[in-house]
Amino acid sequence: MAAIDQGTGVSFGLTDEQRGLRALARAFAENEIRPHERDHDTHMRHPAEVIAKAHEIGLMNLHVPEEYGGPGLSAFDGMLIGEELYWGCSGMGTSITANGLGAGPVILYGSDEQKAAWLPPLLEAPILCSFGLSEPGAGSDVASMKTTAVADGGDYVINGSKTFITNAGYASWTVVFAKTDARAGAKGMSAFIVPMDARGVTIEQHLEKMGQRATDTSAFALEDVRVPAANRIGEEGDGFKIAMATLDFTRPGTAIGAVGVAQAAYEHSVAYAKERVTFEVPIAMHQGVNFMIADMATEIEAARLLCWQAAWMLDQGYGRKATLYSSFAKRFAADTAMKVATDAVQVFGGYGYIKEYPVEKLMRDAKLFQIYEGTSQIQRLVIAREIFTPKS
Ligand code: CAA
Repeated sequence: MAAIDQGTGVSFGLTDEQRGLRALARAFAENEIRPHERDHDTHMRHPAEVIAKAHEIGLMNLHVPEEYGGPGLSAFDGMLIGEELYWGCSGMGTSITANGLGAGPVILYGSDEQKAAWLPPLLEAPILCSFGLSEPGAGSDVASMKTTAVADGGDYVINGSKTFITNAGYASWTVVFAKTDARAGAKGMSAFIVPMDARGVTIEQHLEKMGQRATDTSAFALEDVRVPAANRIGEEGDGFKIAMATLDFTRPGTAIGAVGVAQAAYEHSVAYAKERVTFEVPIAMHQGVNFMIADMATEIEAARLLCWQAAWMLDQGYGRKATLYSSFAKRFAADTAMKVATDAVQVFGGYGYIKEYPVEKLMRDAKLFQIYEGTSQIQRLVIAREIFTPKS
């Protein structure tokens, strides 16, 4: 197991600037997200206007470096903002933060020319980008993807299908992963920046989801889509590594979103437990209820600290060694959110199962954290591999 053996000392105190970022995001979540969450959830409405406002006050594209017009925030600072946005509504939180995943490959592995071409426009207007990895037949098993990219003159011609892609239905461009050598497994994959208005790109479906319904999740087809070789990120064959390293960077950010959902479910539970009376006392007085809430509080705190630690390691330049901690955070926070939200429904009893009360949505929303950006089982697989066959 990777030892934490480098970097600056650890402090749990936040700077004034960090507290300011968190307060800004909390105010945004309270004023701009929460009032609209039910409507977007019910109607599965893409929150374009909320995205535009988040963009206007600088809550998007947090990790785009300053030299390309972004705020260049650390992974840790991103945690503080992310938790609040997802506390507001995880569907909208995902919509607002998903450019981090979409642009991740460009930020981490793009050439100077690619960064200069594709990153500044994200800061100039509230445009979206997405991460085109999953396919109908290849989700957890990334290397089995079928999409191909064939070199042709100075271009590549891409054919295939992508699905479960956050924001793809409204994205300006997507980093599409495709096989450039079908026989080379993980080493035969490459990454390409594909404008979504390119000829041959068709949005096939805005998928109707159980939860996080405010965020768009789309399926699209690529039919003889031609992109210049200049749109390939890294070398041919680098695609798998680019995808994995991007996910190492973004999984803690998704994990903190799960913490935001769990925190919301916990707060609703505490308030309800103080108010609701059974057997002549508030239900908070019953051990059957207050033990559930005690566990919620403990596990949320533990999940938050794992997220902070993973982000801190990324910021300290641990690189590949952060993989383990990134998966610790994602696995634990996702499973915690699901447990806390399920217990919150239990605290509310019959009312918890009714849409009029807030925890029913939180339980549906929480489930997605155990699936997207690598299921909880894939996180365990990564953790086990890092334990038994660690990479330096
Ligand atoms: N960083 C850099 N390189 C890595 C890496 C990492 N984190 N992980 C693996 N690699 C390298 C390995 O070292 C190996 O290279 P060598 O042979 O040179 O050593 C190569 O990549 C292949 O690695 P594996 O043999 O481990 O690959 P695998 O086929 O067994 O798969 C896996 C590993 C962990 C299961 C991977 O496929 C995986 O993470 N699957 C889950 C995918 C996922 O998270 N999908 C979510 C999509 S995004 C999303 O959900 C967002 C959305 O928009 C909805």
